[in-house]
Amino acid sequence: MTDPYRTLLPAPRRAARTGGEFTFDRVHGDPALVEVVHRLLGPMPVAAGPEDALLVRLGDGAPESYRLRVQEGGAEIVAADLAGAGHAVQILKQLIGPAAYRAGGRPGGVVPCGEVIDEPALAWRGGMLDVARHFMTKHTLLRYVDLLAQHRMNRLHLHLTDDQGWRVESRRHPEINELATHRRETMAGHRRSDFTFDGTPHGGYYTLDDLAEISAYAAGRGITVVPEIDLPGHASALLTAFPELGTGAGEVLRGWGISAGVLKPVPAAVKLVCELLDELLTAIDTPYVHLGGDECVTTGWTGDPEVAAHLAAIGARQPGDLHGWFLREIGTHLAGRGKRMVVWDEAFQTGGVLPDTIVMCWRGDAIARQAAAAGHDVVRAPEYPTYLNFDQSDRPEEPLSIGGPITLQDAASFAPLPATWTGPERARVLGGQFQAWTEYIPEERHLDYMVFPRACAIAETLWSGAPADYPSLVERLRDGHLARLDAAGCEYRPLEGPRPWQEGGAGRRAHSPVGRMTRQRWLEKGAQVPGSGVVDEATTHDG
Ligand code: ACM
Repeated sequence: MTDPYRTLLPAPRRAARTGGEFTFDRVHGDPALVEVVHRLLGPMPVAAGPEDALLVRLGDGAPESYRLRVQEGGAEIVAADLAGAGHAVQILKQLIGPAAYRAGGRPGGVVPCGEVIDEPALAWRGGMLDVARHFMTKHTLLRYVDLLAQHRMNRLHLHLTDDQGWRVESRRHPEINELATHRRETMAGHRRSDFTFDGTPHGGYYTLDDLAEISAYAAGRGITVVPEIDLPGHASALLTAFPELGTGAGEVLRGWGISAGVLKPVPAAVKLVCELLDELLTAIDTPYVHLGGDECVTTGWTGDPEVAAHLAAIGARQPGDLHGWFLREIGTHLAGRGKRMVVWDEAFQTGGVLPDTIVMCWRGDAIARQAAAAGHDVVRAPEYPTYLNFDQSDRPEEPLSIGGPITLQDAASFAPLPATWTGPERARVLGGQFQAWTEYIPEERHLDYMVFPRACAIAETLWSGAPADYPSLVERLRDGHLARLDAAGCEYRPLEGPRPWQEGGAGRRAHSPVGRMTRQRWLEKGAQVPGSGVVDEATTHDG
């Protein structure tokens, strides 16, 4: 059997096996840490003393750091904090093996002796799930919390709103729940080649109680939920309930792309958004709120008398300036509640940032470097290679996606801290995350297929702060980690390619040749600072 100390993923800083093994079924130590063990490994008796038990205690060290020592007479976790203890327990589960990921097993397990000493290089290690384009059930999100925690990730970014659906209950404005949370049908093929629709309604939303549950469940596993309410663009769904507050209002969109459904940057819209955020923050316990700010079509603002009057009132020069104004106003409201705003990188270009705003950079390395150089904390989320909605190979069996490919090797090559940046620029990088946009990901099984194992590679780059050693990553997946995912019920894409039932076939999910990119083109695109933070033209084909 492969030495499990050699298949740990993400690879810890130091891990070495010694001889023998230790069997435990009891835990002892600091009650808060014992609780972490119970939560992550299952209930097990608390021993009166450390003999023959898993001993857990707090010690000194950097945030999230831990040491795990397993000897024949006992095992000990010394962690700097609860997060570090959680990581140590995740390592213990990886060492116990696949059985540790199955429900209803016996408490504890058999662990080969050895030692792990570890800490993360980056503080923000996340995954983004788009639950607006396709709603994912509460249970899917809870399962994703577990999967992220297993990879020692600590952020779940939920893209909760978009043109195709608003997924947050409002008790104050229940017309949102009625009108904005579902669409009458969904685009069936690729948006650039096939304008057919499936004729089937799609929808769903999380109640505030659901979101409170997800937030608490995540917190118990070391994960902070980062909710995103994406505005002022991507607002078609919200505008079904408040048509007077936007331009381009119509229906909850059925197709994909950049839409003309945009909130007007006026005080009444700011007031509504602040009310909705206040409600959301009764449910989600988080220091961070993502306000979106991406892909905003401002042409509808030009010539709108209400927008023109507001532009004059605040002395702005052009409608584009109002994009920045709108986000700053909401960010200031959030700051008053002790929350920090996060925005996509367009908002950095339009001035939609406060001094402590976190800029989440998706349009490549150059814009990320510019935001870091300007003194903003940056979360790296570049399309290449962190967008996991692209195909994983250029094989025709790959099912319908937006384009691609972005392979496992591409994901492993991600450099969160580019070597060409200056020290101060690199110091601004909080971390990074993968993105699972779900235009072409209609359900959970396909989400698993698209996210794993590429998310394993991204997790490793964020843990170490550097590209992963690809041959080693593949070896660890093949010799140990994929069996853990199997036991956890994760339907990842096998290294050899899709299983027969994961292929696109010849029907609705057939592979699309549209949207092909090469690594070279991705890199060239990302090396340019985008010309503008707003968009002149919608690209959706609804109607
Ligand atoms: C984005 O991909 N529009 C953030």
